[in-house]
Amino acid sequence: MRICVAGARGMLGQQVVETASSLGHTVIPWVRPHVDITQFEALVQQCVDDKPDAIINCAAWTDVDGAETNIDAAYLANQTGAGHLARAATLSGSRFVHVSTDFVYPGDLHRPLLETDETNPLSVYGQSKLAGEQAVLSAKADALVIRTGYIFGRHGQNLIDKIAYGIKSGYSMPFVTDQWISPTSTPLLADAILRFLTYDSSGIYHVTQDGGCSTFELATFIANQVDGSGVITPTTLTDWEPVQSARCEAVGRVLAKRPVYSVLSTEKLRTMLDIEPITWQESLRIHLSN
Ligand SMILES: NC(=O)c1ccc[n+]([C@@H]2O[C@H](COP(=O)([O-])OP(=O)(O)OC[C@H]3O[C@@H](n4cnc5c(N)ncnc54)[C@H](OP(=O)(O)O)[C@@H]3O)[C@@H](O)[C@H]2O)c1
Repeated sequence: MRICVAGARGMLGQQVVETASSLGHTVIPWVRPHVDITQFEALVQQCVDDKPDAIINCAAWTDVDGAETNIDAAYLANQTGAGHLARAATLSGSRFVHVSTDFVYPGDLHRPLLETDETNPLSVYGQSKLAGEQAVLSAKADALVIRTGYIFGRHGQNLIDKIAYGIKSGYSMPFVTDQWISPTSTPLLADAILRFLTYDSSGIYHVTQDGGCSTFELATFIANQVDGSGVITPTTLTDWEPVQSARCEAVGRVLAKRPVYSVLSTEKLRTMLDIEPITWQESLRIHLSN
């Protein structure tokens, strides 16, 4: 396939380019300023030039706290840009895969979330991503929308590496015991995206590692894998949020609200695509040993 990857310089975009190339696809990385997803006419022309069989959208405004005070810019990339790409894919007859987030959910259900559960984002970022999903599906009814959890991989910066660095450097780091996430490795996500293309799937799917954890469990697991004198201490959202909020305020930023519980069920992924994601612990072991 000829696959165009929007946002190809981002954490996920780089992995998608790498995985798709290793599978033998012809990959055309789309990066700014040459390809800006907010420029519709230019995108249409880009499709005429590149003749994609599939377009994968890894481009987004991803600064969650920054979106609270940059609302227009967040919506421009996450809603308008996503919709433009989907329309360009429709016009060029290409398949279209869009990446969304667990932050579209309110996070008040304390069980793994299903694709059919009610959305109600708490943050501007989550609202702009949900608006993006809607723009995509109305421009291209057979688009595939993937909601994923906290992502990490070899490219770009991620919390996992920061925690590992903190442990090696002897820092004491507090993490909350009462907020739960689904860690997701970019290789799993890239593999799933490409598998979706071969299965001709559409609609909304969750893609995450198997299982979920509190950020305290995540950090403790990393601390146990890494040599160093750093320690992870437990805290709660009630104690931690005011501290984080004050830190944000001190640098002119606003702390966005995040879902308390956003562990995603991967039942649909297993059933429809026959993909068995490995556990978050196993994926972290692999990441930390590389
Ligand atoms: N990171 C996470 O933990 C996480 C969790 C759940 C879902 N997601 C979703 O996963 C996807 C990938 O995230 P990521 O962490 O890989 O993001 P990332 O590293 O921040 O990369 C995003 C990329 O989008 C590009 N971009 C932004 N606006 C653009 C525009 N107008 N035109 C073209 N490119 C543009 C950026 O380009 P520049 O390089 O030029 O800035 C950047 O390379 C996003 O949809 C995100 O919402 C991420």
